Amino acid sequence: MRFRARNLLTANELSRDDIILLFRMARELKSGAIAGADRALRGKTLALLFEKPSTRTRVSFEVAMAQLGGHSLFLGAQDLQLSRGETIGDTARVLSRYVDGVVLRLYEQKTLEAFASAAGVPVINGLTDKHHPCQALADLYTLWERWDGKLDGRKIGFVGDGGDNVLVSLLHVCSKLGVGVSVGCPKEYSPSRQVLAEARANADKSKAKIDVFSSPVEAAQGADAVYTDVWVSMGQESEREERLKTLSAFQVNEQVMGAAKGEAVFMHCLPAHRGQEVAAGVIDSNRSIVWEQAENRMHLQKALLMLMLGNGD
Ligand code: CP
Ligand code: NVA
Repeated sequence: MRFRARNLLTANELSRDDIILLFRMARELKSGAIAGADRALRGKTLALLFEKPSTRTRVSFEVAMAQLGGHSLFLGAQDLQLSRGETIGDTARVLSRYVDGVVLRLYEQKTLEAFASAAGVPVINGLTDKHHPCQALADLYTLWERWDGKLDGRKIGFVGDGGDNVLVSLLHVCSKLGVGVSVGCPKEYSPSRQVLAEARANADKSKAKIDVFSSPVEAAQGADAVYTDVWVSMGQESEREERLKTLSAFQVNEQVMGAAKGEAVFMHCLPAHRGQEVAAGVIDSNRSIVWEQAENRMHLQKALLMLMLGNGD
């Protein structure tokens, strides 16, 4: 199997085989089974160009590069000439002359696409308004590991903001892997028609089911995992009051978890707001796998970096 993706702008551009290859490699890297992994990216530099704050994405990519023998360079957008009018295309052309790959965390997916079309090196989406592919890949890796590689026929109940960037990427990855997704969200914050069409097109092949409900309990019914994310994403601060009000009935609490299977796990990409999208009694319970998810960001991204920046051997 060969990894075919040059860039990772959305999770939907990966094939099922690409995803499984990533999972297998992440598992080997995590267990220390790949000899010489600590030199795999010797001499390679990864730039991280971020317009928004980050704990997990920044640190897991930086540590991943260090553990693979490479180097990383963190670039806050405000420190670059980008903040004084240099174009995103010119920034991409210049960075491509220095580094071997770029991870970007940007407000707009459109800006990421403009960067990628001018870049001469692999480009990885580290979160935009529309997508968060690294998160969804690490999340499904976490479940694949936990369920011994058997994902077919499983179901995730996602409760909260139906337009969420993490949910978009989860819909893409799950639908490729045969994992059903039931979204429970208010009508005002539903997944877009385009995202649902993309997920359903994948799901037709993988035999997964993609549903949208207006009740959190219905979405969680019979689920193997219940997932939520913040109600106010980065860049949506001006909608805060309205979002908190509209989404208040969509908290993952004990009642919502009670609708899922008895052994169902709770998932969150983090950062979490206890008392808003999740009750403290759920995220801090033994059903919660949020710390495993956070750890696996690093293992999955190491696999991604080896496949995208390595020499292919
Ligand atoms: N989950 C995630 O991407 O976290 P950060 O915003 O801390 O990177
Ligand atoms: N939906 C969240 C995810 C944070 C990792 C946001 O975009 O802020």
